[in-house]
Order: sequence, then C-alpha cells, then structure tokens
Amino acid sequence: MWQQTNSFLLILSVVTVSHPWSMTVPPKVTVSRGEDAVLWCSFTHPRQQDYSGLITVKWIARESRIGLFYSCSVKNTSMEELRECSASTLRYSLSGDPRRGELSLLIRKVELTDEGTFFCRVELDGQQSHIQKEVHLYVEARPEILSLSVMKSPSGSDSAPQRLRCEVEGHPPPKIVWLSASRRMKEVQVQTSKSGPYRVVSSVPYQEGEVLTCRAESRLGEVERGYPPSNTLMITLTVCGLIALLLLLLVGVLVYCLRNRARADTSPVYPNAQVVEDHRQHGFESLADGYAEVQPVYSTVTMSSSTSCVHYSPVNVQ
Ligand SMILES: *[C@@H]1O[C@H](CO)[C@@H](O)[C@H](O)[C@H]1NC(C)=O
Repeated sequence: MWQQTNSFLLILSVVTVSHPWSMTVPPKVTVSRGEDAVLWCSFTHPRQQDYSGLITVKWIARESRIGLFYSCSVKNTSMEELRECSASTLRYSLSGDPRRGELSLLIRKVELTDEGTFFCRVELDGQQSHIQKEVHLYVEARPEILSLSVMKSPSGSDSAPQRLRCEVEGHPPPKIVWLSASRRMKEVQVQTSKSGPYRVVSSVPYQEGEVLTCRAESRLGEVERGYPPSNTLMITLTVCGLIALLLLLLVGVLVYCLRNRARADTSPVYPNAQVVEDHRQHGFESLADGYAEVQPVYSTVTMSSSTSCVHYSPVNVQ
C-alpha cells in the first residue's frame, strides 16, 4: 500500500516536472448555416520557452470529408506574416498564430455538409512530437420548403390517384404538418420519410381544386407554403385585368369612330332616337383601384327606322 502510494507520487512528480503536452478544444461548436465558424484550438508544449523549429498545424476531418484537408507550417523563429495560413480568400484558414499556440480554424460560410468531427493536430520537428484532439462541428439550419407539387401515383397502386408532395430541409430535421383550407390538421394517409440526412419528404392524397398547406417546423422556427401556389392566383388576376383593359380600349376606339362619324353628319344626329335601355357594365370592379371610378356605361339607341345602331360611350361616374 505504502509502495503503491509512493510510486503514484513518483509518477505524478515526473508528469508535473516534464510539463506534458496540452491541447484545449471545446467539445462542440454550434453555428448557423451560412455563417463563419471558428473551431477553437490551442496548445502548449514542454519546450515552449526555447523552441525555434517548425510548427505544422493540421486539421483532419472524419466522415463526409476524408482525412487531411488543411495544413500549414511556420517556423517559430520567423517574424513573417502568416500569409498562406490565414489568407482571407481561402475557405479554410487559421484564425490565430501557431507561434503563440493558437491553432483555431476559420471556416467561411458553413454548409450543412460541413458538419462532423474534426481533429486539431500540431506537429513539432516534423512528425516526431505531436498532439491532436477532436472537435465536433454542429451546423444548424432553419426549416426550409424545397418543393411542393402534385405527383401522380403509379398506376395499379390502390392509394389515391395523385398526392401532394412536400420536401423540406433543416437541421435538426423539421417535422411536417399538413393543414386544410380551414387550417385543420390533416393526419389521414400522411406518408413521411427521410430523403437525406437533413431532408424530410411527406405526401397526402390530393384532389383537384383542394387547398392545402405544408408546414415545416423545428425548434429553430417554422415556415409554410400553400397549394395551389398563390402566384397562380396572381397570374389569373393579371390576365383578367389585361383582358378587361383591352375591352376598355376597344370600347374607346369604337366610341371615337362613331363620334367622328356623327360629326360628319349635320344637324341632330338621330332626331327620332329613343333611348331604350341603360346598361351598367359590370366586371371591371376587379381592376386596380385606379380604374374603379371609370365605369363604362353603354346605351342602346334604337331608331324608328328599320336600321338600328348601338352607341357605346364611356361615362365617368364619380
Ligand atoms: C515560439 O517562440 C517564442 C519565443 O521564443 C515562445 O514564446 C513561443 O512559446 C514559441 N512557440 C511555440 C509554439 O513553441
């Protein structure tokens, strides 16, 4: 027992005297997609006071990217700028000075695929002495709807003839909720599956003309999109507006022609004309506000003679 304690103390004193290597890293770094990430890493070593050799920084990735993807060397005696280690044009660069024990890696505009385990490694005098530790990069992404469209079901399948399919992306993977036009949750015949590490796809039976909403939600937020897309409605409105405008133009041209013709004749135009009806033309209300006050009114003028002429004229209604 005494001997055990003694040898333990001996080991302890050897360890404290020789100042072992040390490396400090956070266990996990969390960053949002599109932002810059800094994987913190620093080290100390026993020969720190008088080390004049080469310091080689290496960043190694596991999983998606294989092996070494960043390496940079600097001599501790050199006073030069760390140009090739921290060039601002590079996607990966150092955000510190290895001569001061700083090995942090800066990754610009992080993607979801950057997520994974990284190793911070430093080598002195070639590969003779080194230390490495791992850091986990976690990339967060708010839910996003990638697509929302109607798919024909394969013939022969006993399910609905067509389904509305919604694909979303995010990290953590979002949950998909379907809402009817009355904002009631739809839960019947919903099929949901993963379509990638950060993607989820869900579908529901769809009937022509039905209005449905796909909502993607996670702890980072929520987003939704309706079907049929509202821009179809916009296109329909625009087309209707254009047709109405054309009609208005046509009426104007017609009136202009008839006025010119009337001016060519002398004295009262139609001395025995009877104004029979007044029709207020509808259908222009759907136009933009600017057009609302111009409501074309046309009147049918019947002549006592066998010939009749329909006279159109726009009237400004205040
Ligand atoms: C580099 O040299 C300086 C000055 O001698 C020293 O303070 C520093 O700790 C050395 N860096 C490394 C990583 O050994």
